[in-house]
Amino acid sequence: WSTTAQKVDGELHVGGLAVADLVAEHNTPAYVLDEADFRARARAFRDAFSAYDVFYAGKAFLCTAVAAWVKEEGLSLDVCSNGELTVALRAGFDPARIGYHGNNKTVTELRRAVAAGVGRIVVDSFVEIERLAMIVADTGLSARVMVRVTAGVEAHTHEYIATAHEDQKFGFSITSGDAFEAVRQVQVAPGLELLGLHSHIGSQIFDSSGFEVAARRVLALHARVSDELGVTMPEMDLGGGFGIAYTTQDDPSDPAQLATELSKIVEHECRALDIPAPRLSIEPGRAIVGPAMCTVYTVGTVKPVRLDGGAVRTYISVDGGMSDNIRTALYDADYSCTVASRTSTAPPVLARVVGKHCEAGDIVVKDEFLPGDVAPGDLLAVPGTGAYGRSMASNYNHALRPPVVAVRDGVARVVVRRETEDDLLATDMGDQ
Ligand code: LLP
Repeated sequence: WSTTAQKVDGELHVGGLAVADLVAEHNTPAYVLDEADFRARARAFRDAFSAYDVFYAGKAFLCTAVAAWVKEEGLSLDVCSNGELTVALRAGFDPARIGYHGNNKTVTELRRAVAAGVGRIVVDSFVEIERLAMIVADTGLSARVMVRVTAGVEAHTHEYIATAHEDQKFGFSITSGDAFEAVRQVQVAPGLELLGLHSHIGSQIFDSSGFEVAARRVLALHARVSDELGVTMPEMDLGGGFGIAYTTQDDPSDPAQLATELSKIVEHECRALDIPAPRLSIEPGRAIVGPAMCTVYTVGTVKPVRLDGGAVRTYISVDGGMSDNIRTALYDADYSCTVASRTSTAPPVLARVVGKHCEAGDIVVKDEFLPGDVAPGDLLAVPGTGAYGRSMASNYNHALRPPVVAVRDGVARVVVRRETEDDLLATDMGDQ
């Protein structure tokens, strides 16, 4: 839960507002974004990394308001698509403080990033280095470049969000020599300024040893570049991926503390290697916005289902589902939830919260004990949905994507409005 979330007589309040009142005004499903919580988490990272740079990873959740908060809190911003860049620029984000990612940036995207003057482009393939060299030669502009490397770490997280093992699409392999070669090519290309190495080992990671191993391997390459090419790269980025608690079972380390530890490791290793420590940066997304948002749904159908062996599981259907939170279906993610609109003294029952989409895998919360009297019209709130919830939402079954309602000090404002049927029909050209 976000820090301002609390129950008052069984009613959930966030940002000084009763969720039931928010629903009366904005309906469900809705994401409720706790602005103070978001800002506090952003600041905690910034302070832990005061000598360095923190890029908020916009892929976790981005809208114009959030980009403005990130700017106001003094963080930089990581984008990985033209769309995210557009939002950042619309918010007035200084392009020099934007990093641009992606394993398949098109020439058009690269041209735009260079023309906008983004502060760093993280290259991910030899063809991209060629394209970038061509663009700067064509335009007479220059580009500041980081080289994304694969640290060869087995991060303990879901396969789809682990990125430091060799057999996946991101980065240049350190072990094969590609990473060194990529650095060499960037370094000799006129108009490309080599900033340093970039490593992101995966997402929702709790075990800090993965980051440490990655930092050591990346630094070893950093030192080799200094030795063999005579180039001291000024920067190094260790990516994002700091895990957050989704249920009470998770026990996350303090991400800001982890950030401090990482910078100590880098400084220590650099002393041992006798090279100047590069300016370090990180790219947390989930750890900043994840806990800051919850999703509020209205209960519809309640259906007890008898399981093999005689136990009963109560299926509670809500008015959203995999279209506003795909993570349970996609990563087998665990969530929890609570009744947000009232107290209940009914004994708890084993419940599964499901959506309204046309497939059995449309599960929001796999297992939760909820009061046995949960009934149509009750509000359910799912915490920790800020990261990769709205940002991966879809229009599956022509669902209208929910709004994001930001709350702060008793005031609510819609920062992303609910989609309408007109929005859906706007792209449907009819049978012409
Ligand atoms: N930097 C890079 C280069 C990344 O690829 C990512 C996430 C981040 C930073 C931010 O990672 P975070 O701190 O948010 O864990 N959709 C998945 C997560 C995919 C992450 C993709 N890259 C999920 O819902 O778990």
